[in-house]
Amino acid sequence: MSKRTIVSMPGDGIGATVLPETIRVLDAAGFEAEYVHADIGWEFWRSEGNPLPQRTIDLLAEHKIGLFGAITSKPKSDADAELAPELRDKGLVYYSPIVAMRQLFNLDICARPCQTFQGNSLNFIRRGADGGVEEPKVDVVIFRQNTEGLYGGVEWTNPPDQVYDALMTHAKFEQNFADAPREELSVSTRIFTKAATERILRAAFEHAKKFGYKSVTVCEKPNVIRETSGMMLALGKEIAKEYPGISLWDTNIDAQMMWLTKNPEDYGVIVAGNMFGDIISDGFAGLVGGLGFACSANIGDEVAVFEPTHGSAPKYADYETSIVNPIAMVLSACMMLDHIGETEKARRIRRAIADVVTEGNVKTYDMMKMRGQPNVVEQGAASTAQMADAIIEKLK
Ligand code: NAI
Ligand code: MG
Repeated sequence: MSKRTIVSMPGDGIGATVLPETIRVLDAAGFEAEYVHADIGWEFWRSEGNPLPQRTIDLLAEHKIGLFGAITSKPKSDADAELAPELRDKGLVYYSPIVAMRQLFNLDICARPCQTFQGNSLNFIRRGADGGVEEPKVDVVIFRQNTEGLYGGVEWTNPPDQVYDALMTHAKFEQNFADAPREELSVSTRIFTKAATERILRAAFEHAKKFGYKSVTVCEKPNVIRETSGMMLALGKEIAKEYPGISLWDTNIDAQMMWLTKNPEDYGVIVAGNMFGDIISDGFAGLVGGLGFACSANIGDEVAVFEPTHGSAPKYADYETSIVNPIAMVLSACMMLDHIGETEKARRIRRAIADVVTEGNVKTYDMMKMRGQPNVVEQGAASTAQMADAIIEKLK
């Protein structure tokens, strides 16, 4: 088989540590690929005024599959202040390169699995009816609509005339907001399209069917957000008819956040709009080890990018020995392998991670519930490289 080309985008901070360690694991699993480096992140905002340079977009368009570490973003005032002097006062505006990548390549399907590794000391536990401690096994995959909704970017402060006038045609707006001075109004829209909503729902049901999940839960708030959440639930009911073996459940986002700490083992595939999907996936990630374990895939028709949920964790970026957990990035790479049909290699790597976690001899600081500090390695925590080594050892 010809070698795959993977666009490697380490980005900022710990992204630049966990991605190379992940490539070592992929190599050890026998995945033959050529990695082409692509620039992304804060450094390129500062030096070029563009955190997602065109050359990176071109590489993604050409090779279709990206592995991405993390980026740093900072508030507007810092973004302006850190721009190279010759680029200042040119009207350049910082934007998130991840959001841009998702929108540019229509990576509208975001999948975030949250699965318990047996023996992980960070696993969620609860008190059972008999007073004993229970450790439910969580096996949930969240499908988050990745390009629309509250993160769609259609928003205004002091909305222009046409927008204001249009809002005033809505009885509720006139009744509740007409008295507010216009310059004191901020409006962020929540736009859902039928096409994208159907795509995320279908992706969720297809995943449930392929991997034998019993239920797909639409997690929104249709009783209050009647148009957008209502549309997702109504379409969910239609699409569910095509999948007779799979139950359609629906929950409200607020109640879901409570239930996931009571009976997380009852859920299988969950599907939601952009912001609620973001919230639930962090919630479930907290039950299975948190940011050190949270992986994700951003999938479009042509291009797909795989990344850990965590950010660049700048405070750990410059440690002489990196201490952060590479597992989230490695699990993201497993999602990439699944996506391109290398499922056996993905299975082997996940097995290796499970073995390391269950044995419990090699743990990064987060798995030991330590505060991240340079001396955690002296105190018995594994470094990033040692964790990757332990996974590689299990692959042999
Ligand atoms: P963060 O995810 O970078 O870090 C939060 C905390 O989580 C860290 O201080 C650390 O204690 C822990 N953590 C994160 N990754 C870990 C790992 N692999 N192993 C062990 N512990 C880990 O989020 P934060 O601090 O809110 O943001 C830092 C920067 O990252 C910001 O500039 C933010 O904009 C950016 N960010 C980027 C994301 C991305 O690239 N997808 C996502 C979230 C934040
Ligand atoms: Mg998030």
